[in-house]
Amino acid sequence: MQRSMRWVTCLLLAAALAACGSEDDNQDEDPKDLPEVDCSETVPTFDEVSAFSDVCTNCHSTGLSGEDRNGAPSRINWDDYQSAQANAEDGAEEVFEGDMPPPGSGLTLSNAQKQELYLWALCGTPE
Ligand code: HEC
Repeated sequence: MQRSMRWVTCLLLAAALAACGSEDDNQDEDPKDLPEVDCSETVPTFDEVSAFSDVCTNCHSTGLSGEDRNGAPSRINWDDYQSAQANAEDGAEEVFEGDMPPPGSGLTLSNAQKQELYLWALCGTPE
């Protein structure tokens, strides 16, 4: 009885449809959503990951402060090996989910650049 009442409410309130179908809303919570990589491929070193130098460091760089960071957290810098290593999995996840580089930034990564980043981040983060 209660269940069918709930469905009626959902059907009547068009605005409530999103709330009623909310099962998929928490997808980016842990466990991490990471791409599959084959670590037997050649894993690039930190300096070889062109995504970091070409794209990520436009905001996430030790050389940038204040507004020049465009809101990028000061603890995450992709020109600094320690920071990059500490945030490697998060970085791969953000890129995999299409959240980094930020969709509104006008910056993009090629598939090859993404693959390079995933291999580095998920296969031992070689320096
Ligand atoms: C145009 C500026 C910009 C660029 C380019 C950029 N970021 Fe970010 N990044 C941000 C901002 C702003 C935040 C904080 C807000 C957020 O999490 O969306 C952030 C947050 C993050 C976080 C933390 C996310 C979290 O939820 O804790 C990671 C990890 C990250 N970026 C990785 C990257 C990687 C990897 C690249 C390159 C592929 C990149 N970012 C490129 C602006 C940028």
